[in-house]
Amino acid sequence: MTKGNCVAIIGTGFVGSSYAFALMNQGIADELIMIDINQEKALGDVMDLNHGKVFAPDLTHIRYGTYEDCIHADLVVICAGANQKQGETRLDLVEKNLKIFKSIVESVMASGFDGIFLVATNPVDILTYATWKYSGLPKERVIGSGTILDTARFRYMLGDYFNVAPNNVHAYIIGEHGDSELPVYSLADVGGVPVLKMIDRDRRYSREDLDDIFVQVRDSAYEIIMSKGATYYGIAMGLVRLTKAILRNENTILTVSTYLEGEYGEKDVYIGVPAIVNRDGIREIVELELNEEEQHLFHHSAETINNILKPYF
Ligand code: 2OP
Repeated sequence: MTKGNCVAIIGTGFVGSSYAFALMNQGIADELIMIDINQEKALGDVMDLNHGKVFAPDLTHIRYGTYEDCIHADLVVICAGANQKQGETRLDLVEKNLKIFKSIVESVMASGFDGIFLVATNPVDILTYATWKYSGLPKERVIGSGTILDTARFRYMLGDYFNVAPNNVHAYIIGEHGDSELPVYSLADVGGVPVLKMIDRDRRYSREDLDDIFVQVRDSAYEIIMSKGATYYGIAMGLVRLTKAILRNENTILTVSTYLEGEYGEKDVYIGVPAIVNRDGIREIVELELNEEEQHLFHHSAETINNILKPYF
């Protein structure tokens, strides 16, 4: 595997172009290749981004490319595909996007690509599994954005509730990036103080509020799609965070969609759990000690993914 830091983006729609913008602003990659079936759109994005380059912290080399250019990429980030319309769930997109993914992943692999795939398109757990199958790459090198954004939303909302910076809130959303995901309240803490203790000893806080916060997290995408048609800034920031963890060999723990082989009692499924991410991709899955209810909900979430996935594979 090469160890440079060239990123190729497939799909320069709302998510892909917001990711490119955020990546350029943080100066994480030396080279960024923009690929889209709509060549005009990708070319326009390349021009537009390059015109802001003089104001960026580092000079990312941004250019238009085709699938053949993926041979040069260390990381291929797939943001292409149909996105959720109002009233659709992420799982409704499976049929359309599996077809698109087969052709994308085969084209990327035909270039001689031998790096890491990062998948953002929904339903992300299923499409990450598909990317792993279609590419034949080791599971460590096929990563989905999973519940990275749900976890970020959760930390943000808990921070707001307890009036503490979200960086000091340590809490995970795990499971499907979708309606069956779950909060791990039993292990959530604010600066080392368990959240469940905080609601016990301070009358300003309650379990009902925590339950409401989770519902808001879970349904955030629906609300945003209703108000502006799509979500893209949050996921773009999450993808950049993941890109940094990979390209800078950080060994950072992030909730990503990764392949389980018995961890959490599940097998042969891509699903969101915390994992240590570095330059080789997924170094290790972090196995949380879930309580009984969380275990049950996690199992249900894995089953939800599997029921959709298995007829196709
Ligand atoms: C999100 O959660 C729609 O999956 C996208 O924002």
